[in-house]
Amino acid sequence: MAEIVIVKDTAEAGELAADAILALVARRADAVLGLATGSTPLGVWRALAGRRADLSRARGFALDEYVGLPDGHPESYRAVITREVVEPLGLDESLVAVPGHLGPIETAGEDYELAIRAAGGVDLQVLGIGTDGHIGFNEPGSSFESLTRVKTLTQQTRRDNARFFASVDEVPVNCITQGLGTIRRARHLVLLAFGEGKAAAIAAAVEGPVTASAPGSAIQLHSHVTVIVDEAAASGLANVDYYRYAWANKPEWEGL
Ligand code: PGA
Repeated sequence: MAEIVIVKDTAEAGELAADAILALVARRADAVLGLATGSTPLGVWRALAGRRADLSRARGFALDEYVGLPDGHPESYRAVITREVVEPLGLDESLVAVPGHLGPIETAGEDYELAIRAAGGVDLQVLGIGTDGHIGFNEPGSSFESLTRVKTLTQQTRRDNARFFASVDEVPVNCITQGLGTIRRARHLVLLAFGEGKAAAIAAAVEGPVTASAPGSAIQLHSHVTVIVDEAAASGLANVDYYRYAWANKPEWEGL
């Protein structure tokens, strides 16, 4: 099962995830990182930037992207990844791919899968979770075997993301996202969530039945998952006492 770590805030979560990423890059400078956008991973990028590690050889694959925004739009995930991840962490932009930017949209999914495979697969995938339970932009109903492809956002996701745009009408309807099958191939998943708004999605992902109706529950099919949550996001979990006990008694040599 996933390891559940309950932290006091996003800063503590960021430091923990940064530890795991830096341990990986110390083993292999050209490690492949799965990058997520959104508010959730910002503490991870902040913590990593603060460590001033040399990440210039690390490679990156973003989880998802909007379809239909003009090139260079500041809320396109290409722009967000450059602004929030590549620049502060000192990544080499030419080593960081975002789906939908490698060629025509009709073949963008296959092209992205090929690029991930050519890089040797994702070593560590950072994930957030949507209030509707999505990971990447795999909305409820997505197949656990799905690969990178163009999808349609739920209205709930468009409303959730309207804060980045002038109005909800400007949030694109379509997106391209790594599939749940793509995400499940990454060697280590680090899923973060904060705030009460994520409590139901986290409970469904960690303790609910494995069902396409709760895309986050795909993590239960993976052998190496770390879920880092604050108290509020953990508030829907039934087995919190055990998670705390297991974390407190974890052998230090194991790492995340
Ligand atoms: P958020 O989005 O980090 O902005 O809450 C998470 C997600 O939609 O996956």
